[in-house]
Amino acid sequence: YQASEEGLRMLVFGKPGSGKGTLSARLVQQYDISFVSTGDVLRKEIAAKSEVGRKAEEVVASGGLVSDELMLEIVKTELDRLRGKSWIVDGFPRTLHQGELLDSVLLAEGRPLNMIVHLNVPDSVIMARIAARWVHLPSGRVYNSTYSAPKTPGKDDVTGEPLSKRPDDTPETFSKRLQAYYESTAPLLEYFAKAYPESLISLSGSTSDEVSPLLAFTPQITVPDDLRALDQLW
Ligand code: AP5
Repeated sequence: YQASEEGLRMLVFGKPGSGKGTLSARLVQQYDISFVSTGDVLRKEIAAKSEVGRKAEEVVASGGLVSDELMLEIVKTELDRLRGKSWIVDGFPRTLHQGELLDSVLLAEGRPLNMIVHLNVPDSVIMARIAARWVHLPSGRVYNSTYSAPKTPGKDDVTGEPLSKRPDDTPETFSKRLQAYYESTAPLLEYFAKAYPESLISLSGSTSDEVSPLLAFTPQITVPDDLRALDQLW
């Protein structure tokens, strides 16, 4: 997929562990699309012990949400990098305020969002996926011991380095992340439905085989035909 003049400006939205990173990684592998995950950016900053990392570390470890101000600082830098490209953002916005801020930046630059994919997965399914999730922390590559197992158990496919569990994937912290989703992030769905009625796509299902896609691509969005088969990637 070559970035057209119109370009793809897509958010992938959903509960923690709903598969946002996995779907984005597949799209990025198949098309010429840039990708930003605010969770990955934060984990890298934390590992590098940068000023941003030090500010965010405790909040991320406890399953809370990093302040809107700090997140906007991070995202503004990323959005500058994405100018003129087709892109997917995962993990932002996560509060109504972040949604409004993102819109104001993008609208002022004449590059509004044109696709929002909502992954709708039941909590019980997510809890099982998280228990089976393994990650390569330096790259952000994600595996699952049942759904997408690494070629060699416990090792990253690309570097061969050991995989680990995310520190915020313990059952206790993960419940807090789900709670933060319901309290602060879920209200964005209504916001998106009002602001982008033709660009919001909900994919519902509890396993990849049961996905019942509700694809409603709008004709004015320039996306390649095979990106319309988004559900088959999930
Ligand atoms: P972040 O890294 O964004 O975490 P998250 O939203 O909780 O999402 P995850 O990365 O846990 O899951 P995912 O939906 O990408 O699922 P995945 O593809 O791995 O954020 C971490 C923290 O940073 C937050 O808690 C917060 O503190 C902070 N933060 C980040 N952004 C912020 C913001 N904007 N504002 C404030 N704070 C912010 O899939 C999950 C598992 O399921 C994997 O094992 C995968 O292999 C498996 N799987 C995926 N798809 C399928 C499928 N179709 N069938 C079966 N298994 C599947």
